[in-house]
Amino acid sequence: MLTCDVVVLGGGVVGTACAWRLAERGRSVVLVDPDPGEGASRAAAGMLAPVSELHHGEHDLLGLGLLAAEGFARYAAEAAAASGSPVAHRACGTLVVALDAGDRARLADVRRTQERLGLDVRALSGRECRRLEPLLDPAVSGGTLVPGDHQVDPRSLLRALRTAAGRRGVQVLPARGEVLRVGGRAVGVRLAGGGEVRAPLVVLATGARAQAHAPVRPVKGQVARLRMPEGEHVLQRTVRGVVRDRDVYLVPREDGELVVGATSEDRGFDETVTAGGVHDLLRDAQALVPAVAELELVEVLARSRPGSPDNLPLIGFGEVPGLLLAVGHHRNGVLLSGVTADAVADLADGVEVPPEVAACDPGRFGARAAAREEVGVR
Ligand code: GLY
Repeated sequence: MLTCDVVVLGGGVVGTACAWRLAERGRSVVLVDPDPGEGASRAAAGMLAPVSELHHGEHDLLGLGLLAAEGFARYAAEAAAASGSPVAHRACGTLVVALDAGDRARLADVRRTQERLGLDVRALSGRECRRLEPLLDPAVSGGTLVPGDHQVDPRSLLRALRTAAGRRGVQVLPARGEVLRVGGRAVGVRLAGGGEVRAPLVVLATGARAQAHAPVRPVKGQVARLRMPEGEHVLQRTVRGVVRDRDVYLVPREDGELVVGATSEDRGFDETVTAGGVHDLLRDAQALVPAVAELELVEVLARSRPGSPDNLPLIGFGEVPGLLLAVGHHRNGVLLSGVTADAVADLADGVEVPPEVAACDPGRFGARAAAREEVGVR
């Protein structure tokens, strides 16, 4: 049996960032995950896009996303400095484009909301879109420039976080684990192969797999990674598109990677890559940027985003004393990992969190107990 100050369950970008920040505050931390970084973080495209991801009625999520975006450059720089491992953070902005008249109307509708909220967005004609991105198809009929929505390579971020955490003494146990409760209180993690890690605080960062403790659900996303030839990058910035009412995004990295994503499917835990899913993604990407057809297809992946009932994460203490939740980040785990980790460290210290994070208190779900019953947990 191991003992420490905090045991973090889940080694994706959120859990690893939490472990690092907690260790920075002087706590001894053990992180438990059978396959660290191989869940949703592995598939993530790394868009830092609270403005272009805006959906009607999600104002709390917008506030949290803007807070995270504002602090992201500092967070990435700190992770890079603490690890000596570069974080590929790219302040390139985002161009959202529309194909047909219906797509243009949808974009204009979102843009009206963005403008009403005072967000920095600029309406562009099709020609203006092509001036920014010359390889866009002539059929692109209009768009919105979002200068403040940037991107990061999640794999570089996770590498840096892992090294930074290790340098602060975080111990990683590559094992499956579950919350260990004694007398109704979380007291550590029980390891699947036998053994326990005991700690007065357990941080739950298992994404969609936290169903036993939070109303989260898996939302399957299929993603393709392509490679652009050196010196012939087909895009300069993130391009998101509405293609005959379907969403697609293309995220170009400086090293030549081009991420094309993502499907959004309610299929439970299903990591099967399907011909239809990949076909849809590549067809829509090619409708926006025909040169995509010439690129090398490097990887296709399917993972489960951790969806929550209101698309806002659950950050804070839940019903079980000793258990701090950091789950339900849905489409924004990479963007929100820094603010989540800061909040978890603050909550562990008994420090008040910013109002944008307080809005994520798990207590907002009065139906939490019911949700647990639904998934058969007592
Ligand atoms: N944030 C993009 C996605 O979840 O597909």
